[in-house]
Amino acid sequence: MVGVPGDKSISHRWLILAATANGRSVIHGLPPSLDVLSSAMCLAAISPRARPGLDAWARGVPAAAEGHGSTWNLRSDGRSSPVLEVEGEGRDAVVAPSGDLHCGNSATAMRLLAGVVSAGRFRSVLTGDDSLSSRPMERVAAPLRAMGASVATSDGCPPIVIDGGPLKGIQHRTRVPSAQVKGAVLLAGLAADGATTVEEPLPTRDHTERALAALGAPVRVEGTMVSVERFQHRGLEGAVPGDPSSAAFLVAAAALTGSRLEVGGVGLNPTRTRFLDVMARMGIKTEQRVSSVVLDEPAGSIDVLPGGDLVGVRVEREELPLVIDEIPVLAMLASHARGETWFLGAGELRVKESDRLAGLAEGIHSLGGDVGDEGEDLVVAGGGLRGGVADPRGDHRLAMAFAVAALAADAPSVIEGVESADVSFPGFVEALREIGGRVETVP
Ligand code: S3P
Repeated sequence: MVGVPGDKSISHRWLILAATANGRSVIHGLPPSLDVLSSAMCLAAISPRARPGLDAWARGVPAAAEGHGSTWNLRSDGRSSPVLEVEGEGRDAVVAPSGDLHCGNSATAMRLLAGVVSAGRFRSVLTGDDSLSSRPMERVAAPLRAMGASVATSDGCPPIVIDGGPLKGIQHRTRVPSAQVKGAVLLAGLAADGATTVEEPLPTRDHTERALAALGAPVRVEGTMVSVERFQHRGLEGAVPGDPSSAAFLVAAAALTGSRLEVGGVGLNPTRTRFLDVMARMGIKTEQRVSSVVLDEPAGSIDVLPGGDLVGVRVEREELPLVIDEIPVLAMLASHARGETWFLGAGELRVKESDRLAGLAEGIHSLGGDVGDEGEDLVVAGGGLRGGVADPRGDHRLAMAFAVAALAADAPSVIEGVESADVSFPGFVEALREIGGRVETVP
């Protein structure tokens, strides 16, 4: 059995909820990934009471990362990485940061934190690295402005300058389905007068609403509509389940190498496991078993069973938001399938950590496969990869997807900069080896 680091999406949210809680929180299994560290450090800057606990957790993180993943690969109960223990004095005790809130590579950190600081009576400046600095932020700025905060972006991109203020509830319809925007508006809604409602064109991951409901907040969910009202939560306690988006790489690697695999302690929230349905259509048999539910988040194991040949499939526009982070690995699996695979309406991939549609097309070509990226659609030809040298351009999910696909290529391949996996999956290379992948790293 292998484990994967704690879920990044859940970690950002539980960290925010811990730092803004009225009371003590204890969180096990936070991943030592760079994105989650970014959220923790920004929260330390605005939440003085939570700062010692956040700092102590962050200091413990290098030890886990130096273990190259062996800590969570040995134990998959989510309790092996350092434990976070923080005291909070509630949302009203959030203070002005003394410098910029640097969100690193993480759009989730930036967008969710924008929702939090919009309710503070101070100025915050949210910045990020080069990749994050070119990502669209008006989608979150516009609803927060409508709620009463003064929010400025730089041509729609970071830095975001926010002068928070008294907020009022709004009814917001998102144009692009985005769990980050939904989360930001709901977090701001906890501090607003009146109800705040978010309606999405298609369902997205629902970690914010699950955590809030588990903490007793007045959250109502009807289809793709979520509403919340002013609420101050108390502390929370739980173990973050393993990240299914990280597990997807291992499931794909096992399928391509014909290995049996059990991933334990992994999140099984249905808004995150749709990639298993797509893989099933491609011919990969898996079984899920829920063994626990923490703060409304189900967790358990994914078993990869022996399967046959891979076949090409259609991934429809409607299911795209539910596999948004798994498209890189699904596309690389598709390059080994018989027949074409279509990803329809995947335009959002152009504004992720990199232009993932262009990156995937380039990577598949470099590894000797065939692919077309037409506007919003990606069409992977299938038929196998010859092997080659691929450059994921610093994007963690492209790096891992290329590495997994290379395991089944005709000749050995070189994936440049695979260390970018640390953004979400420190220990990725060791995990691949653990399931039988032949991987060498060169400094
Ligand atoms: C995330 C939502 C998704 C996803 C990202 C994490 C989240 O982004 O791609 O990796 O935690 O809310 P969008 O909501 O912008 O699609």
